[in-house]
Amino acid sequence: MRFSSFADRYRQNTGTVQLMEDLGKATTAEGPICQLGGGNPAHIPEVETLLREAVADLTQDSIAFGRMIGEYDAPGGNLAFREALADMLRATYGWSVSADNIAITNGSQSSFGLLFNSFSGTFSDGHHKQVLLPLTPEYVGYFDVGLAEQPIFEGRRPEIDLLPRRQFKYRVDFDGLDLGDRYGAVCVSRPTNPTGNVITDAEMAQLRSACRSAGIPLIVDGAYGLPFPGMIFTEATPFWDDNTILLLSLSKLGLPGIRTGIVVAAPEVIELIRNSNAINSLAPSRFGPSLLTPLVQQDQLQSICDNVVRPFYIRKRDHALQVIEHAMADLPVRVHKPEGALFLWLWFEGLPITTTELYQELMASGVFVLPSRPFYPQGFDDWQHRDECIRVNYAGSESEVTEGLGKIADALRNGYSAGSGAR
Ligand SMILES: Cc1ncc(COP(=O)(O)O)c(C=O)c1O
Repeated sequence: MRFSSFADRYRQNTGTVQLMEDLGKATTAEGPICQLGGGNPAHIPEVETLLREAVADLTQDSIAFGRMIGEYDAPGGNLAFREALADMLRATYGWSVSADNIAITNGSQSSFGLLFNSFSGTFSDGHHKQVLLPLTPEYVGYFDVGLAEQPIFEGRRPEIDLLPRRQFKYRVDFDGLDLGDRYGAVCVSRPTNPTGNVITDAEMAQLRSACRSAGIPLIVDGAYGLPFPGMIFTEATPFWDDNTILLLSLSKLGLPGIRTGIVVAAPEVIELIRNSNAINSLAPSRFGPSLLTPLVQQDQLQSICDNVVRPFYIRKRDHALQVIEHAMADLPVRVHKPEGALFLWLWFEGLPITTTELYQELMASGVFVLPSRPFYPQGFDDWQHRDECIRVNYAGSESEVTEGLGKIADALRNGYSAGSGAR
């Protein structure tokens, strides 16, 4: 079969493909597996009970059910859901939004290609622009979507603050940061996948004002953030204005299987999403919106995030930290301050093997994690730190997390003792 050059980008095993493939392998592998890789959220019993009841209500309402399965939705997404969300965002945060500021997609991931390519690549004046990731490492799922021949992302190396209790925190390096006309947008995930960092309000304010002055949008990926699922364990204020493109998702709430993403943005951006939905899939799925609309209208969504989801992940995080303290007490490990999402980002300074090699070794022993390298765009070749970290998803059961971290500690002991200065 002969494919066009267009097909080349779908014929490679990119970081995102590898990640999702490994996730699939782990679910079908024989023998004991510790799944600390991938981005699956936990199965939280209280959340699943609430959702099961919402599904039952929906199936009993023959008109609503018939519409949900039997009719295409509007290309911008379900109007009742968008209105309910806009009411909630106005009432909770005072944001000046209506349904015209909201579009629904089949998962956040499905809007990245459109958004990043719309703000990067070649512009009508002939300039090539990029999307700046001011705090790299960043979410691997961004990197494969570029359609331009030149790379569309530029990552910025963070400052590293060393903290007590063997923790550290990345900070945006604003020194000499000039958005000039090289960039078409700035993007951050908040909380950050892979690090669990929450970019501070002060950093966000500075990015926000720099973007506004440069006349480019600030894309904030809130897949783990506020208002839902609310997996933020530190002080952080959500914001939105007409220069912000806020990406939300139902996935980390416990619904990755039903693929619902939400874009909150100026109407001109919402129109792009609406048209892309129509062109590429006619309409987004109706399932997520139909299920969640009553929960948003009755304020149940907020309360489940505040009272169930956040405390659940704080317990999970604290358990994983305790295990690390115990199992890795003799190892030179540092943990990124875990302020949100469902990951620990572990830094093994001076490890003689790369964490890509460590990852392969771990996978052979049934432990799935992610190495740090895929979380960097091009341009970090001279930074050893790029190969010294792993991401651990702590959403699984306590026994799985304990066993997995124990095996990681064993592999590290071998790694540190096997070679000194091997890299
Ligand atoms: C930071 C971040 N953004 C976006 C997504 C995509 O989420 P979805 O397409 O399930 O809405 C993920 C998934 O893991 C993520 O980690």
